[in-house]
Amino acid sequence: MTSIVRNQWYVAAFGREVGREPFSRTVCGESILFWRTGDGRVTAMSDRCVHRRFPLSEPPSHLVGDTVVCGYHGFTYGADGVCVAVPGQTRIPRTARLRTYPVVEQDSFVWVFIGDPHSAATLPVPRAPWLDMAGWTTVSGMEPLAARASLLVDNLMDLSHETYLHGGYIGTPEVADTPITTEVDDAAGVVHVSRRMADAACPPFYAKSTGITGRITRWQDIEFTPPCLYTLHSRVAPVGVLPNADGTDPDAFHVEVVYAITPETESSTHDFWAVARDFALDDEQVSDFLRESNRTVVLQDVAALNVLERVLTGEPDGYQELSINIDTGGLAARKMIARLAAGAP
Ligand code: FES
Ligand SMILES: [Fe+2]
Repeated sequence: MTSIVRNQWYVAAFGREVGREPFSRTVCGESILFWRTGDGRVTAMSDRCVHRRFPLSEPPSHLVGDTVVCGYHGFTYGADGVCVAVPGQTRIPRTARLRTYPVVEQDSFVWVFIGDPHSAATLPVPRAPWLDMAGWTTVSGMEPLAARASLLVDNLMDLSHETYLHGGYIGTPEVADTPITTEVDDAAGVVHVSRRMADAACPPFYAKSTGITGRITRWQDIEFTPPCLYTLHSRVAPVGVLPNADGTDPDAFHVEVVYAITPETESSTHDFWAVARDFALDDEQVSDFLRESNRTVVLQDVAALNVLERVLTGEPDGYQELSINIDTGGLAARKMIARLAAGAP
């Protein structure tokens, strides 16, 4: 897994996906079992029984209290991964324990640390506070992507593709027409890309959810924390409406579009997405519309990136890409990820 940053917190699931049933997801090539203890804590351990490798997520494996019982021959493990019972003998082999992973539940996500567990405490868990914050309503989902994570990073860092790939949803001509500014904050480990449209058509995604009927001032401020957490701070307002001098912004609509990019393998990715808004908080129709629209948009990206993955794997290495101004954010992100993957700070 050379191109993958391993000493890293990744989103493994939404908190709602993990309960009192064994749940499995592969992160960076490792099959990980998640379940909640009786007091609601999330555990993360290898999803392979040490005996004959039967997956502990596979029926008839099951939970009994705060233990998981292998469905093949009954090896039983505690929440710390240590085997507490084996069939046919009282002596439990000393090595009978599952690898466990540091795990944190935060901002509606379950984060898991891959790589050296000793590094987990020193590396911060990236934040997306809007996703479970008062004053915001969130819709979210996850789509499997049969493409390497770097293709999704490229895709999200360059939103000019909205005009072409997502026309009729979030794309309008102004997105591709408006130049971007890119800033790299090496100290914070963040890449910023901004595109500010003073007078743009309002795409259906925002027209239907906000009720704005005319043209808009549309700001797209991307904040990407390589390798895995992306936020698009989106601000939409009737054309000409700007924030107040003190920074308050009562007449605009704010949407935080969050993506957690989690490599499943070298060539497949979990594409977690969430759309948080600060308006129409209790309006179920708006929630349903944004959930359906964003899922459609994500699936348009997934379809395109799955094609690209097949193209790339079918071609010899060494193809010389051609990059232009719109690619500066993506190129900066690649550089930062390469540094992280090489183990540099
Ligand atoms: S494979 Fe799990 S008990 Fe045998
Ligand atoms: Fe897209």
